[in-house]
Amino acid sequence: MAKPMRKVVFPVAGLGTRFLPATKTVAKEMLPVLDRPLIQYAVDEAVDAGADTLIFVTNRYKHAIADYFDKAYELESKLSQSGKKELLALVQGTLPKHVRCIFVTQPEALGLGHAVLCAKQVVGDEPFGVILADDLIWNAGKSCLRQMSELSQRENGAGVIAVEEVPRDQTDKYGIVDATKINERAAKINLVVEKPKPDVAPSNLAIVGRYVLPARIFELLEKTEPGAGGEIQLTDAIEALLGERSVLAYRFEGTRFDCGNKLGLVQATLHMAMQDPKLAAATKDFIRTSRIAG
Ligand code: UTP
Repeated sequence: MAKPMRKVVFPVAGLGTRFLPATKTVAKEMLPVLDRPLIQYAVDEAVDAGADTLIFVTNRYKHAIADYFDKAYELESKLSQSGKKELLALVQGTLPKHVRCIFVTQPEALGLGHAVLCAKQVVGDEPFGVILADDLIWNAGKSCLRQMSELSQRENGAGVIAVEEVPRDQTDKYGIVDATKINERAAKINLVVEKPKPDVAPSNLAIVGRYVLPARIFELLEKTEPGAGGEIQLTDAIEALLGERSVLAYRFEGTRFDCGNKLGLVQATLHMAMQDPKLAAATKDFIRTSRIAG
């Protein structure tokens, strides 16, 4: 039986240039969808998937994420003194008690692969998950990472990578896979290519921000030279992993919002507002009337 996935890595050291100037001081992952930052959705997903150790790969500007998951003594005691129990529960409920957070620094933004490599010592010799918090994946049932870690367990510890079909003209924004179908959701990956132009892309099946990987990936990352955009690409190390063991592409159940760009964040906000009983009717009304106005 393969070891279960207990550790999840959150690479949050990117520059977030698509949200400048906001991301001059605020990490992209702290941007809110309604009342919760993106990183909270990601952490909830990891916890749902069984993680008890969360590893944030951060840079020296992103203290807000550590502060967010830390105890807020002054705020908590004020809320407690004034009897605001519901608000206190919200502030204290960012993380379950059995979960611990570890912060490692990526000294320079040298790419996603490099960011994941920074977590090597903390992960050790275990399978682990990776969540890119700016891909918010919503599902009413099992979270995306949980679906993936269960598949990995069933498949004797195989690597599992979340994929989604994207329009052909967008292949150059993603890692693209060529895979042989196993069933409706899973396929065995034959090839991965980072950001191929639409005319040479092997398919339109794109890698999105969820991975379950074996520890072996770290050794492969150490040997990975800078690739597309001069960055150390996780996709290149996954390509090397394919030569050694089976890696599955998984079409998850759920809806993905690419909150790394403005439109995706707007769509996620509207979607989550529609799930909220207190906001749904007014949001619907707003969309309807603004359509008339537009
Ligand atoms: P992106 O490609 O979205 O880059 O990174 P970015 O810098 O965050 O945003 P833009 O494109 O400038 O707007 C994908 C993920 O990898 C992390 C990011 O934080 C994001 O979660 N990342 C990327 C790192 O942690 N370190 C890096 O060196 C690069």
